[in-house]
Amino acid sequence: MKWITARALALVVPVQAGLRFQCSTLTIQRLDPVVQPGSNPSAHVHHIVGGNAFNATMEGDVSTRATCTTCEFPEDLSNYWTAALYFKHQNGSYHRVPVIPVNPGNLDGYSGTVGGITVYYTQNDLIRDTIAQNPVKTFPPGFRMTVGSPTNTGAPHVGLRYQCLSVGGGRGREMPDFPTTPCAGGIFVTNHFPACWNGKDLDSPDHQSHMYNTITMDGFVAAPACPASHPVRMPQVTYETVWDTSKFNSMWPSGAPNPFVWSFEGVNGKGTHADYMFGWKGDALQRAMNKSECFYDGCGSLQKQQMATANKCTVKDMVGEVTDGWLDKLPGM
Ligand SMILES: *[C@@H]1O[C@H](CO)[C@@H](O)[C@H](O)[C@H]1NC(C)=O
Ligand SMILES: *[C@@H]1O[C@H](CO)[C@@H](O)[C@H](O)[C@H]1NC(C)=O
Ligand SMILES: *[C@@H]1O[C@H](CO)[C@@H](O)[C@H](O)[C@H]1NC(C)=O
Repeated sequence: MKWITARALALVVPVQAGLRFQCSTLTIQRLDPVVQPGSNPSAHVHHIVGGNAFNATMEGDVSTRATCTTCEFPEDLSNYWTAALYFKHQNGSYHRVPVIPVNPGNLDGYSGTVGGITVYYTQNDLIRDTIAQNPVKTFPPGFRMTVGSPTNTGAPHVGLRYQCLSVGGGRGREMPDFPTTPCAGGIFVTNHFPACWNGKDLDSPDHQSHMYNTITMDGFVAAPACPASHPVRMPQVTYETVWDTSKFNSMWPSGAPNPFVWSFEGVNGKGTHADYMFGWKGDALQRAMNKSECFYDGCGSLQKQQMATANKCTVKDMVGEVTDGWLDKLPGM
C-alpha cells in the first residue's frame, strides 16, 4: 500500500471503520485447505497465520474449532496464507526466505510479532477524504476465497504488488513483478482481495468467482459500487508480508535476473496469490466494521491479546518434511 507511516495512515482514515493488525507466523508447511482440501501434502509450501484449527481439511464454522490465534484479536480465528518465498542460488540449491513483521516494533505498541502477516479489513479501502462509508456485511461461517493464481503470467490482479524496501523500511514504488535488483531491507508484498460477494456461495469451483473485484487502480482507493451479479459489499481484506531477502543479496550476482521464486517454482512474480479462510467468532467482525472512525484500536469493540500470548498458539507439523535450510529442490516440485 502507499501510505508509509503510522502518521500518514492516521491522517488517511478518519471516516471509515477499518482494522489493521499483526499476526505472527503460525506454521510453514505444505497444506492448502481451500485449493487442495484433504491433500497432505498439497502442491507447494505455504506461510500461514491465524487460528489453530488450520488443517488439511477445514469445513464449517472454523471459529467453533480453533482455541487460539497468532493474531492480535483473540476473536479472530481465521487463517490467512500465501505461498512461501525461496531464494534460488546459481548453483541450483534453494533456501527459504525468512519473514519479518511489517514495521517491526509495531505501529500501535503491540511488539513481539514473529514473522507473520499484517492483515487489514477496511470498509471503503484506505481512502483519503470523506467519501461515504460503504456499509459492509461480514463473511458467513465457512466462507473462503483466493486471489491471484500460481499459473498467472499475464497482467497481475490489481492489488497484488511488490515493493523494494530500504534498510529503514522505506518502501519503493509498487510493482507488478519481483524487483529486478537487490532490496536492502527485503521485499514487501501486498495481496488485496476482491470485496463484492454474490450473496450466496461460501466458495466456488475456482475459489474466486463467488467474489468480484471493483478496484481498477493500484493501491488503496475508494471502491466503486458492486455489480448486480455480486451485490454484497464485504470488508476489503488485504495482507502485507515482508520477506527478508537481505541475507541472500550477496549471492545475487550483479546483472543476474531476480533469484527469488515462489514455492511453486514461481519465477514470474505475477503468480503471487493468497488464500483466506474466515473464522471470526460470532458477530465480532461485524460489530467492529459497523463503527466509524477507527482503525488500529479494534474499533472500540474488539479486545486485543499480547503478541507473547498469540505466539503460544501453534499447530503440529502435519506434513513432516524439511522446508528450510539449503534444499536440492523445492518441496513437492
Ligand atoms: C486435523 O484433521 C485430522 C484429520 O481429519 C484430525 O484427526 C485432527 O484432529 C485435525 N486437527 C485439528 C487441529 O483440527
Ligand atoms: C549452493 O551454495 C550454498 C551456499 O554457499 C551451499 O550451502 C549449497 O550447499 C550449495 N549447493 C550446491 C549444490 O553446491
Ligand atoms: C450492523 O449494522 C447493520 C446495518 O445497520 C445492522 O443491521 C446490524 O445489526 C449491525 N450488526 C452489528 C453486529 O452491530
